[in-house]
Parts: sequence; structure tokens; C-alpha cells
Amino acid sequence: MRTEPPAPQLHPDRNLALELVRATEAAAIRAVPFIGKGDKNAADGAAVDAMRSFLATVNFAGTVVIGEGEKDNAPMLYNGEVVGTGRGPECDIAVDPIDGTSLTAAGRRNAISMIAASDRGTMLDASSVFYMDKLVTGPDGVGVVDIRKPVAENIRALAKAKRKDVSELSIGVLDRPRHEGLIDEIRAAGAGTRLLLDGDVAGGIDAASYEGRIDMCVGIGGSPEGVATACAIKALGGFIQTRLAPKDDDEKQRGIDAGLTFDHVYEADELVRGDNTFFVATGVTDGNLVTGVRRKGPVIVTESIVLRARSGTIRRVIAHHPIEKWH
Ligand code: FBP
Repeated sequence: MRTEPPAPQLHPDRNLALELVRATEAAAIRAVPFIGKGDKNAADGAAVDAMRSFLATVNFAGTVVIGEGEKDNAPMLYNGEVVGTGRGPECDIAVDPIDGTSLTAAGRRNAISMIAASDRGTMLDASSVFYMDKLVTGPDGVGVVDIRKPVAENIRALAKAKRKDVSELSIGVLDRPRHEGLIDEIRAAGAGTRLLLDGDVAGGIDAASYEGRIDMCVGIGGSPEGVATACAIKALGGFIQTRLAPKDDDEKQRGIDAGLTFDHVYEADELVRGDNTFFVATGVTDGNLVTGVRRKGPVIVTESIVLRARSGTIRRVIAHHPIEKWH
């Protein structure tokens, strides 16, 4: 007797990130000629152009909520720009054609190209305030750490939750003069620092990932990067909190006019609402998260991570691109 197959538990639907990854791969490949050449705007410009042309082929109606580049007048996919074919789901997107433009220009490790996406109207537009204070951990930090507490207290609590000695904890923090006091506090607590030259999106993902080398990522970095990181953290099941860190009163006023709240802790759900988030990143230069673009015989090889919050799937996509198609 024939039996009916069981009804599927999950309704498979589209993983947009698997299409968006083509755009980060293209951006990473086009940035390669500029690695180590000292011109970060040229690297960014090549990545932006490549990302824009590939995004135009994806069936979705994307609005860039988090663009990148105002800080140093770099070339940019600007906020409010509409991308995609216009057919398919309406999405907010956060783009950073290269997170680590200076790393790329210097020929250093850990530069990535990234895109995050979520349902239309769900991403916080924090573009009026350049910096955010951030705290990112993996799932062990949920209900354990809090950005309002001193870093030493968070380190002790996280060590206990991870059943590790405090001395075994690695804390990621951008290597900036503004973090001198924070770095001292981390070391005084007995933990070690992992100083990031740039790239706190990759640092945050490392902290949230079970395969990572960092236990917690803290300190002030870009607001756009904070929202993009939140999309990834939702897929990884980790923890993120942020607080806006205006540079001066004028910037604070612009933030207030834009509806942002200061002295407020933005939880993951306020940075990006819901669980329909996607995150994709391709290595530009070699890094802890992904390997950079390399040439092998007749192909260019890229490595990307593709994350989807709804399913919790973490994919690594290794792609071989025939060189002749990229001239
Ligand atoms: P870009 O390469 O996109 O400029 O950003 C690199 C970066 O290190 C981010 O990862 C980080 O959030 C931000 O810059 C920190 O800003 P700053 O370099 O001004 O401290």
C-alpha cells in the first residue's frame, strides 16, 4: 500500500542571500587589482561599481538603507538608492562593498565585501550618527552581558557562562586612540585583547560564531557596520547591543531630528526587526572569517559566508570563476 509522503515541516522559500552573494563576489574580485596599491578610494570605487551592476540583476526591490562612504567622501552606494530588478520582495539592504578599505589599500588581512538584507522598513536608519558603541558575543552572552555594565564585569560573567577562565578570553576591539582606556580595562580584568586594525563587522561575526577566535567584541565603530552586524548576529543566534556615540552636539542634533534616541541601548530587534534577515560576505584579502580572492590556474577563487536568520543556516560558498569572463 502506498503511503503519502509526510508534509514538510518547513516551507522552503527563497534564500535571497544565495543570489546576493554574486554581488559581493564581484565586488571582491574587482577590488583585487587595488590590493596593496595605497589608494583606498580606487579600491572602493571598483567594488561599488561591481556590486551595483550585480545587484541590478537580482529579482528584488531593494532600498539601500545603510549605504557607506559619507565619512570620507568615498564612492558609495548611497542611502535611498533603489537596487534590483524591482520584481520580487521589497527589502532594506545594508551594503559595504569593502569593509576594510584601508586594509585593502595597505595589503593587510581581513577586508571583506558584505551585504545584509531584511524586510522593507525593518532596518534602523542610523546614518545621521557615524559611530556606535557596540557589544557583540555568541549565544553564551544572551542574558549574561550588558553594554551598560563595566567591561570587566561583562568579561567575568561571560567567562563563567562559557566555563572558561577569564585569562582565556579574547576580546576584540578596534585599535584606536579612543579605546586606550577600554583596552587597559580589558587587560586589567585579566582577559586578552585582539586588536583589530579595521573591520568590526568581521570582528563581531567572529565573536558570535562558535568557530570564532574572539569571545566578545566591544568598542566604538561605524553605525552602518553595527546594523549590518545585527543582521548576521540574528542568523548566528548571538548577542548584540549598541548605543549611539555622536562625535559632537551637531551630530547629536541631526540624530534627534532623524528620530534616533541617545542614552538608549539598541537591542538586536531595534537594529533590525524580525527574523527575515540575510547576511553575505566575501573575502577580499585573507582573513579569519573568509579567505581572500585568489587566482588558481584558469579560475579566480572566492570564499563567502551566506547566513540566513529564518533557517539559521550558515553556508560557506567557494566559487570558481573562469578568468576570461573577468577581463
Ligand atoms: P571602511 O573600510 O568601510 O571605511 O570601514 C572600516 C572600519 O574599520 C569599520 O569596520 C569600522 O566600523 C569603522 O571603520 C571604524 O571607523 P574609524 O576607522 O573611523 O575608527
